[in-house]
Amino acid sequence: MAILKKILNQTRKPQGFLGKVMVKGMNGGAPAMLANFGLSLLGGDDFGRIVDLGCGGGRNAGELLRRYPAARVTGVDYSAVSVATAKKHNRKFGDRCEIRQGDVSRLDPTAGEYDLATAFETVYFWPGLETCFANVYGILRQGGLFLVTNESDGLDETGKKYEKIIDGMKVYTTDEICAALEKAGFEIVKTIHHEKKPWIAVLAKKPIAERGR
Ligand SMILES: C[S@@+](CC[C@H](N)C(=O)[O-])C[C@H]1O[C@@H](n2cnc3c(N)ncnc32)[C@H](O)[C@@H]1O
Repeated sequence: MAILKKILNQTRKPQGFLGKVMVKGMNGGAPAMLANFGLSLLGGDDFGRIVDLGCGGGRNAGELLRRYPAARVTGVDYSAVSVATAKKHNRKFGDRCEIRQGDVSRLDPTAGEYDLATAFETVYFWPGLETCFANVYGILRQGGLFLVTNESDGLDETGKKYEKIIDGMKVYTTDEICAALEKAGFEIVKTIHHEKKPWIAVLAKKPIAERGR
């Protein structure tokens, strides 16, 4: 159990040798399928500036760069191991991709620059969901989108089991995510639940302020 805990805790903040192995795994097949499930909510929209929060090994930043050829993507992660792997993974995109070490709970809440923010398999670990969502709200332009994708719907057995093993992990239901997003000022655009798996995705929008308000 102790070794399993040590390994699974690497999903929260990859560090050292085990962290490197975990981050490589994050760039593999199953997490990619989950990310693609979430990305299906975006339809044919086009984006200029995208930020992938808790970017891990950078596979999804690369997928966003591939899907949106005009976009520049910033990946943010507080793990040095994730940052190093994500930089290496996306080197081929040159200056279209920037990977930064940073904590989602400490984003500059006034930047207002991104058209799209994404968070794959990471909000479970964010300290204070509403505060972090308010920070994401701050870095989006008006009308900007925020996509949250999780492999646990907050009710499934595996998610609940991981919650007990991984320090500080919290699995959320779609309703809990939507409530925290709305509290941070977002409008919910769409939610989906995978037909067979407990995968969920929520797409939210920073409203466009009405004139004179
Ligand atoms: C399970 S991994 C998912 C990585 C990637 N999004 C993916 O789907 O492959 C979670 C990542 O979120 C990062 N993370 C967790 N909390 C964070 C925070 N407060 N700020 C920035 N990154 C965070 C971790 O370091 C880790 O790389």
